Amino acid sequence: MGTLADLAAQRFGMDVDVAEFEAGPGADVLAALLSHRTHRRFLDDPVAEETLNLLYACALSAPAKSDLQQSAIIRVQDPGRRRAIAELMPEMNWIGTCPVFLLFCGDSRRIRKLCQLREHPFANDHLDAFLNAAVDTALVMQNFITAAEAAGLGCCPISVVRNHIDRIADITSLPDHVFPVAGLCLGYPAHPGFTSTRLPPEIIVHTDQYDDSRLPEQIDAYDQRRNGIYTIPPEKQRMTAAYGKADFYGWSEDKTRQVSVRERDDLTAYLRRHGFCLD
Ligand SMILES: Cc1cc2nc3c(=O)[nH]c(=O)nc-3n(C[C@H](O)[C@H](O)[C@H](O)COP(=O)(O)O)c2cc1C
Repeated sequence: MGTLADLAAQRFGMDVDVAEFEAGPGADVLAALLSHRTHRRFLDDPVAEETLNLLYACALSAPAKSDLQQSAIIRVQDPGRRRAIAELMPEMNWIGTCPVFLLFCGDSRRIRKLCQLREHPFANDHLDAFLNAAVDTALVMQNFITAAEAAGLGCCPISVVRNHIDRIADITSLPDHVFPVAGLCLGYPAHPGFTSTRLPPEIIVHTDQYDDSRLPEQIDAYDQRRNGIYTIPPEKQRMTAAYGKADFYGWSEDKTRQVSVRERDDLTAYLRRHGFCLD
């Protein structure tokens, strides 16, 4: 692992002034956070049950809204179910090949059952009930990823499970008020992976009031900087039939092409069918 300054420079493709923290408390934790990489190719080595149990414990140490703890983790172990899930997303072969596949779900069911058990009304049956469970689950998954990386493992979250939400719910028997947030591939990485260049804090962090008036030039600079580190090859340009081959194909061109395709139209219907009131 490099110095904090090296790691931050790799993360943003530009120097970040963090030198004063190199020898400070928690520098190893900060370095681990800066070093995050998604992994999609794994060794066949199994993940020990004891390791998994440690990762669950770390994951469930994440903060939880009002201590309501509204998440569920399904470990998909049965080979038939694993295969059925992998076959839904053949373009992501890491789903079928990773040693462990988990499904992180928002769980608003448990607290509602407890309300029945304790004979109290569940009074907040609106969009916030869904959002709280989704946020709790994302935090649990992030803690899991951070812990896994600290233990030498690699992860790849899979939101594409939501493109097949009914089948995924069938395969894993999700009841009402439980919904998939993301899958997670886990295993020992087969290669070191690479650091993905992030938008700089000056775009994301606002002082006192939201201000994106400089976004066009800031994004141009980011596109150029990112392209200098990794150039997306021409054959990886998306949807060239619709948008043509771009001479300069930066992050913003790639991402706007990606989101120009509508998907997951059935998410709201799934949530309503599974008991959520989204008003
Ligand atoms: C909520 C979430 C869902 C994701 N879904 C997928 C996915 O379906 N398939 C995939 O290959 N990667 C997926 N990823 C991984 C992202 O593509 C990856 O995090 C992003 O490209 C940034 O790279 P990095 O994590 O290495 O910094 C997902 C990541 C997150 C946080």
